Amino acid sequence: MDVVELNQLRMVVAETTVSAGKLAREMWSQPRQISQKGFRDLVTDADIATQQHITEKIQALYPDHGFLTEEEDSTLPEDGPIIWIIDPIDGTTNYSRQVPEFCVSIAACQPVANGYQPIAAAIYDPMRDELFSAAKGQGATLQNGTGTPRPLQVSTVENTTEAVLALDWSSSADARRSILPMVTDLMRDSFTIRAIGTAALAMAWVAAGRFDAYLNLRLRPWDIAAALLLVQESGGAAADTNGAPLVWDVKGMSCVMSNGRLALKLE
Ligand code: IPD
Ligand code: CA
Ligand code: CA
Repeated sequence: MDVVELNQLRMVVAETTVSAGKLAREMWSQPRQISQKGFRDLVTDADIATQQHITEKIQALYPDHGFLTEEEDSTLPEDGPIIWIIDPIDGTTNYSRQVPEFCVSIAACQPVANGYQPIAAAIYDPMRDELFSAAKGQGATLQNGTGTPRPLQVSTVENTTEAVLALDWSSSADARRSILPMVTDLMRDSFTIRAIGTAALAMAWVAAGRFDAYLNLRLRPWDIAAALLLVQESGGAAADTNGAPLVWDVKGMSCVMSNGRLALKLE
């Protein structure tokens, strides 16, 4: 794909993410239909409406592309030269209770041997009107409203004692048990730890240098894909909790995104 095509793709990703976020924002204060689709896992009518808004736009532009979306939709093709990995609302529990921390996360990815390489990605926070966007090899930016996009860069914090970390509790009981000893150590050693309830947005904030690292023991590809490119293009690093490359797994994967300078002890 040449630079012009990549720029075009980045624009489509960004515009779609923003229009989807605006739809989620419009629906936010209206009564919600909420159902439980799994253990500690909610879906609302807004998740479904937002996903449909996104996939209709993408399918109209790129009919041969494939999809990996959080909310099930058997009408979507799975394969294609580009796979769109979509989390229509990341932070559904927050959203369902009108806690104003959530985002839309979209990544256009090339399928690679062990998973996906995002080449254009965006995360949009409609409550703050903040758009995080990136294209492979071209850096990442943050645009507030109609302001000028500014380049993103991860923080320069090297010592864990100064680090502001973030994490979230996964829905899985095992993952919750496993993260507790890590939290005990990190709480003792770090400056502080936040849990904002939207993994994708927290990782975008790593790319922006607001957090120094983010940890989650069980995320799905749609939580990670867009944030991965943002962090990579902002000078940060992504790995699993053993420090090895991410192992893509639709059932759940551990993930640490950081400024690439911190050496966190995770045991
Ligand atoms: C969840 C959020 C949460 C994380 C969960 C995710 P959803 O995504 O990102 O922060 O802890 O593991 O499943 O369900 O709100 O899209
Ligand atoms: Ca999610
Ligand atoms: Ca979601």
